[in-house]
Amino acid sequence: MIEMNRMRILLVVLMILGVDGFAFSQDMDKMWGEQVMKLKAADAERGQLFEEGNYAMFIHWGLYSHIGNLYKGKSYYGIGEWIMNRNMANIPVDEYKLLVKEFDPVKFDANKIAKLAADAGMKYIVITAKHHDGFAMYHSKVSKFNIVDATPFGRDPMKELAKACKSHGLGLGFYYSHNQDWTFPGGGNGPKKNADGRNVDFKYYYENKCRAQVEEITTQYGPSAIVWFDTPGRIPEEDVKELVGIVRKNQPKALVSGRAGYGLGDYQTLGDMEVPHENVEGIWETVDTTNDSWAYAWYDNYWKTPKEILHRLVSTVGRGGTYMLNIGPQGDGTVPELAAHILRKAGEWIRRYPQVVYGTDASPWKHALPWGDVTVKDNSLFLCIFDMPKNGRLHLPGLKTKVKFAYLLGVKKKTRLEVQTQGNWTKIQLPPSISEKIVPVVQLELDGQPEVDPCWGIDPSVETTILAQFADVTGAKQEKKSWMEKFGEWKHVVRVWKWEKGGKASWQVDVLKPGYYNVDLTYNGKDRIVWGVDIEGGEHIQNQQNSSHNYQRFPIGWINFPKPGRYKVSVSCIEGDLAEASLKALHFTFVD
Ligand code: GLC
Repeated sequence: MIEMNRMRILLVVLMILGVDGFAFSQDMDKMWGEQVMKLKAADAERGQLFEEGNYAMFIHWGLYSHIGNLYKGKSYYGIGEWIMNRNMANIPVDEYKLLVKEFDPVKFDANKIAKLAADAGMKYIVITAKHHDGFAMYHSKVSKFNIVDATPFGRDPMKELAKACKSHGLGLGFYYSHNQDWTFPGGGNGPKKNADGRNVDFKYYYENKCRAQVEEITTQYGPSAIVWFDTPGRIPEEDVKELVGIVRKNQPKALVSGRAGYGLGDYQTLGDMEVPHENVEGIWETVDTTNDSWAYAWYDNYWKTPKEILHRLVSTVGRGGTYMLNIGPQGDGTVPELAAHILRKAGEWIRRYPQVVYGTDASPWKHALPWGDVTVKDNSLFLCIFDMPKNGRLHLPGLKTKVKFAYLLGVKKKTRLEVQTQGNWTKIQLPPSISEKIVPVVQLELDGQPEVDPCWGIDPSVETTILAQFADVTGAKQEKKSWMEKFGEWKHVVRVWKWEKGGKASWQVDVLKPGYYNVDLTYNGKDRIVWGVDIEGGEHIQNQQNSSHNYQRFPIGWINFPKPGRYKVSVSCIEGDLAEASLKALHFTFVD
């Protein structure tokens, strides 16, 4: 795991060493560009599919899928669409371009893929028309390096997919790498000389390929839902303006992704594989993988379970966003069976509870709750239970709006549930047996718009995790950190670290059931660390535990909340390498 600062140091070293590393692996997340949410009510028609659909399929498919992260007998680990890149197999341009002769995805079936997306409950598809490698997965007239002219396949899969999406009532959008082109002279991180050996710049690529291809993908395939530009890097602003103008002209209803750059897109795309923990205002999307790579990687069988997919989908919608989940078809055009299986399984659940996902708004709690998460439609709350409370009692802290009815949603009928309030808490008793095996859903009919006091409720029936992200911090540093496990496999956390003596991270919590709670902390750091946990005006506990450079969970001990009510809880780092001790979360579990 390379922490961001170390990566920057590495890049500077590479630059000093004169290795042109910077141009190649400039902080990928910095390459995602500056994004602002701009879609206004007036643009509602343009963003409808995005706003209402809330769930879509991302498809990374290209020449790199034929390689599948296995090149000349060697496996490369990381995001498969970067196989040509120096960070992966570092394949010379001419050698990479020769692979077109072998790329013949005869098993590609656009209808099957569109049906899979529809069965999965997705509302539109965004597929890679051209990725960073510069290979066009459609019939381009401005570059012969395309699937129709250069491969034995000779068919235009985008034409077939446009037809299939139409027949399945799905929107279709195209991913287009407008800045990076690793095989066209002048392209971002591409060759510096053209075929006559003359030095060329970005303008050469832009005027001879990029602009014309954006015209092509926005005119040749019927209505487009989204044009998904990526890694704008250092593309000139006026070029982005012109490209966005081309989309507006040819596809007035299409959205432009935030990664167009310079805030010229219509909405924000968070970091790769990032599901936020706190509500995000405006129009935005999470893009995620079904395993750890966008494009097909032969070894990557680390699939998300249907429940994990639903958890990340509901969490994204519960934070106010749209979830776009990726598949990476193989070199023969087929979708890995396990990827299809998990999408279908999750899709079955969505068909049982469409009201939870489509056209819904963010949770009034602004963050997840210990047993799961919430989406909203008018005066209805949909409580999605991912961690069943052991006594079947669902606790809601701080709900101010009166509950008229509570139902357990079921396929055939909905079961009325008993609701009680106690102080600042609403309690809902679930029946002893529940037929829904994946994620049970409770619908609350409220007596008006949901209003919530966003305190952190410590749940007596299920473990409560509170993130360092939500702490008030003094004498320490609170910051976001993103890093790559395998190349391109992004992880994101907001940590509290760089502790000073007496530094504190504090949270306001609400306790319903007094008594002892076991406290664990999740952190990383160096060697043994002594942490303290305090209840203001109450108990102090501390303990020494080891640490590792991976975020790991360690027990601190039991702490007593003497009576129901509101408390200020704090964590401090007392001994050890205070600078490197990096807190991610604390966990409370009631001790029976
Ligand atoms: C990053 C990667 C790119 C991938 C994209 C998906 O920008 O560079 O390969 O297509 O994320 O979000």
